Amino acid sequence: MTEERFEALLQENRLFQPPESFQAQANVQSSEIYDMARADRLGFWAKQSERITWFEPWTQVLDWQPPFAQWFVGGKLNAAYNCLDRHVEGWRRNKAAIIFEGEPGDSRVLTYQDLHREVSQFANVLKSLGVHKGDRVTIYLPMIPEAAIAMLACARIGAPHSVVFGGFSAESLRDRINDAEAKVLITSDGSFRRGSVVQLKANADTALKGANSVEHVVVVKRTGIEVAMTAGRDVWYHEVMQDVSSVCPAEPMDAEDMLYILYTSGTTGKPKGVVHTTGGYMVGVASTHQMIFDIKEEDVYWCTADVGWVTGHSYIVYGPLANGSTVVMYEGSPDYPAKDRFWQVIEKYKVSILYTAPTAIRTFMKWGPKYPQSRDLSSLRLLGTVGEPINPEAWMWYYKYIGAERCPIVDTWWQTETGMIMMTPLPGVTPLKPGSCTVPFPGVEVEILDRAGQPVPKGSGGYLTVSQPWPAMLRTVYRDPDRYANTYFSNWPGIYFTGDGAKWDEEGYFWVLGRVDDVINVSGHRIGTMEVESALVDHPMVAEAACIGKNHEVKGQAVAAFVTLKEGVEVRDDLIDELKAHVAKKIGALARPDDIFFTAELPKTRSGKIMRRLLRDIAEGRALGDTTTLADASVVNSLKERYKEEG
Ligand code: PRX
Repeated sequence: MTEERFEALLQENRLFQPPESFQAQANVQSSEIYDMARADRLGFWAKQSERITWFEPWTQVLDWQPPFAQWFVGGKLNAAYNCLDRHVEGWRRNKAAIIFEGEPGDSRVLTYQDLHREVSQFANVLKSLGVHKGDRVTIYLPMIPEAAIAMLACARIGAPHSVVFGGFSAESLRDRINDAEAKVLITSDGSFRRGSVVQLKANADTALKGANSVEHVVVVKRTGIEVAMTAGRDVWYHEVMQDVSSVCPAEPMDAEDMLYILYTSGTTGKPKGVVHTTGGYMVGVASTHQMIFDIKEEDVYWCTADVGWVTGHSYIVYGPLANGSTVVMYEGSPDYPAKDRFWQVIEKYKVSILYTAPTAIRTFMKWGPKYPQSRDLSSLRLLGTVGEPINPEAWMWYYKYIGAERCPIVDTWWQTETGMIMMTPLPGVTPLKPGSCTVPFPGVEVEILDRAGQPVPKGSGGYLTVSQPWPAMLRTVYRDPDRYANTYFSNWPGIYFTGDGAKWDEEGYFWVLGRVDDVINVSGHRIGTMEVESALVDHPMVAEAACIGKNHEVKGQAVAAFVTLKEGVEVRDDLIDELKAHVAKKIGALARPDDIFFTAELPKTRSGKIMRRLLRDIAEGRALGDTTTLADASVVNSLKERYKEEG
């Protein structure tokens, strides 16, 4: 939270009213919904639960034993049933559920009936491989329909899934498999990325050396590259799907049974297994998706996130499919084969709702408006963003060049832990301010607190918290309830701390300022400084490392690392590249530091705390210019003198 940031935000006073034509057709047309939810929060959520088909009704909306919540107590349901079976019973059976666009330009449409059949068959395959209710399944796949099929097949039989983003390294995959003790791994031969092939199966094989819980690996053939198959362990998806029954009843699950684990970075080195359960999560994602994205039967909805992140879980798979929507799924990157690929996809499928990330928008800004201008984007009617604060310039660009000043923008603030969108405009109701995620969703109680736990007055900033439980909230950290309680609920008893800093303005609009903890948000993805530091120290030449997030024009933040080498190690020219590659190998390319600075010692306070503000100033060129080596310990010492105040 830098001073300049505050200044910039304070100057933003443009206001955009919902267009009348949009409001007149919107799913939510009146701000009364906020008053209703405020007057009876649990009643509001009870009403939302009617969107979901329950096998047995719940008896209590919420049981709150801080910090542990149970929602819709006693209710029985199945997430896959809600996403598939209930649509297949009616006219939606022939509606497109997933429109898939592959990077090489191949495409595939799965109707709800197709998806129901494939999911049921694959659920039977999982059963035949020994997966029972409660067993964990790890999914390491590209953005192909099989990723959604695998998730829904797990949900169908009550096996919690743990999806690992395909960009993570073998070692990250191994850690996540081991933490979840997954019985089956679902992967593919490879995935397409900018015309080349990423070897997912080879990564999986490396990961499995040292991940002994996995009994079987199911491999989807996507790229056709040659891969090694281990007899007795590995099977091809297309082979095991042959001659399998498409009848597989959806398992009745308790509202509080685990639906999935999703690993996310925290302030320590070890990723946290965020646990989401079934009933509250489905109610949360279905209701937010319907109201925030103003979903209608005829919409073509495209969320550009990867299924490996929570955005993909909640707003590609569970929310949209529960609502019977048509979802576009795109496999590749925005610049392959050309920089107009997103706009070509929108033109081709007449996408009406686009949900993407500020980092992508800043990239498009850099490329210039000629790419979107070369395509017909007139089908668009609503835009969304997620993942990090959007700077007002990028918001205005998105509004003008993509939305043609016609489409409202929903800037949605939420987290892996919250499961569902928490702060957002309602597009037919809420006037927009570029750069603000506006106000909490109805039924969500957000507060900005000072250190002492007192709410700050309008016009000021502090710690962003959620003061009341919400249905899609994480229930615990997998097998580590203490870490759950300590990480999220220890600052102020019973109050959830988000890790973000925020301010609210005189009109009660929220402005999220970024993380206050040691988490770096690179292109909307959370990376723990400790994770990168551990990866660096793992290199045989490194004695100590400290990482910080430095401002970056496109990525929002980039990782900068300060490294102290072991005694006697000479700094070689190629060592920087080697260390960067080492981090990519240990964690994944998204954690690769942009800069590495060698330093004879790390600047620490007397109590041993690393002086991160000093490091940030160095990384952004304020303290030293562009010096990349702080070889002389006296330089660090004199800098330390200047920064004595840092706590
Ligand atoms: O710092 C906030 C930022 O992303 C964090 C959550 O990251 P993750 O769990 O990976 O989930 C990302 C997708 C939901 C938050 O703590 N963040 C997310 N959305 C916004 C945001 N910051 C500002 N504005 C947003 N709309």
